[in-house]
Amino acid sequence: MITAIYASHREGGNTDKMLDIFTDQLNNKTEIKKIKLINYNLNLCKACLDCHQDSKCILNDDIITLYNDIDQADGILISSPIYFASVTSALKILIDRAEPYRAKYVLNDQASSKIKPGFFLGAGSYQTDIFYKNAKEIIINYFHSLNTEYFDDLFFKGLKEKDDLSKVDFYEEKIRQAANRYYNSFNL
Ligand SMILES: Cc1cc2nc3c(=O)[nH]c(=O)nc-3n(C[C@H](O)[C@H](O)[C@H](O)COP(=O)(O)O)c2cc1C
Repeated sequence: MITAIYASHREGGNTDKMLDIFTDQLNNKTEIKKIKLINYNLNLCKACLDCHQDSKCILNDDIITLYNDIDQADGILISSPIYFASVTSALKILIDRAEPYRAKYVLNDQASSKIKPGFFLGAGSYQTDIFYKNAKEIIINYFHSLNTEYFDDLFFKGLKEKDDLSKVDFYEEKIRQAANRYYNSFNL
């Protein structure tokens, strides 16, 4: 099973479409669990650090289903627009809530040898490389906390309006090729 996390706050925009095409390419090969973060009710991490003791979060909200979808996944996909040189705030809340995983896999060194490949799809309205580099570093770090390997990414720059993806040359082929490379990287 592959868990696909949609992080845009704009339904049906560029990054939603990118992840739809990517998952469509994988559809007849494996089960896909789609998560639209804007539909989930997630509280902010309280920084209590209780999870450092038992790798569990004390907050009882929609994170419980999301933890389950992450645990069940053989691979993880994330799509996010660039917001202020970073990822969206919806995604950042989810990332902060990964502290129980970081406690288990990184702080307590209980990383499993099973490699979960991760892929990041991003879009922004500017060409400025540092925006994409920053977002990439955040996702690399997030994946590391989830015991997930950053396989690769695909960024489309200069997309402002909701439908701007359709103006990118061969966007669909590029996304489908990336999905094939991703799928070939592991045996599900
Ligand atoms: C609050 C906000 C902040 C943004 N900040 C950036 C930015 O720092 N750099 C950038 O290139 N684009 C930025 N954008 C533009 C979006 O990344 C761009 O429009 C993207 O295509 C939106 O993806 P979506 O259609 O999937 O929502 C921002 C958009 C919003 C709403």
